[in-house]
Amino acid sequence: MTKLRVAILISGRGSNMKALIDAARDERHPAEIVLVVSNRPDAGGLSIAEASGVKTLTIDHKSFGRGPDGKRLFEAALSEALKAARADLVCLAGFMRLLSAEFVGDWRGRLINIHPSLLPAFKGLDVHEETLRAGVKLAGCTVHFVSPEMDAGPIIGQAAVCVHAADTPDTLAARILEQEHRLYPECVRRIAEGEISLGGDGLVRISQAGGGALSNPAPR
Ligand code: GAR
Repeated sequence: MTKLRVAILISGRGSNMKALIDAARDERHPAEIVLVVSNRPDAGGLSIAEASGVKTLTIDHKSFGRGPDGKRLFEAALSEALKAARADLVCLAGFMRLLSAEFVGDWRGRLINIHPSLLPAFKGLDVHEETLRAGVKLAGCTVHFVSPEMDAGPIIGQAAVCVHAADTPDTLAARILEQEHRLYPECVRRIAEGEISLGGDGLVRISQAGGGALSNPAPR
């Protein structure tokens, strides 16, 4: 089986990266992780990837300077590394840099992200605080193709969890993170198997088999 070559971009602890690496350990998984890139030298995920035997690279955005020139040079270095690794798919996993329209366009249909909310609600940072403040009863996570706007783009998959009355941002984040670790490898698997792709019209082609309804409060 020819496996889909996946690169992962991180900025931090890398738990979603680890979930993608762990899923790829199964020889029946149709994707292999060929590279992990961090834009921060101190990202905790780097040592996890190395311990798993995955090639890592740090491309420190700060070393390219500020402003549009710095961003362009940083993205050029990133593109070069991804092309050298012959990546078919790039997964953002807690990667906290906004990528330019040009970069996103170059990787159209091959660049995906995970975000800890049911998009299009609660984009950006402080997601769990905002989720609790809004009083919604269902929360969750979203995997989507990346568009130039932050946390936007055609949605590939979502997983929902109930918000509990006693939740703090941390307890809610932990419940969602568990689902992130299930959803992200599943979406990658389906992309690798050709079940999911981005059409020319900007819509996601997918054959879905969702579960039943999730209700909070649950019916008695
Ligand atoms: C994850 O919860 C991910 O969904 C979120 O950052 C966390 C990274 O954790 N991403 C975003 O908020 C993107 N806007 P991880 O490094 O342990 O995977």
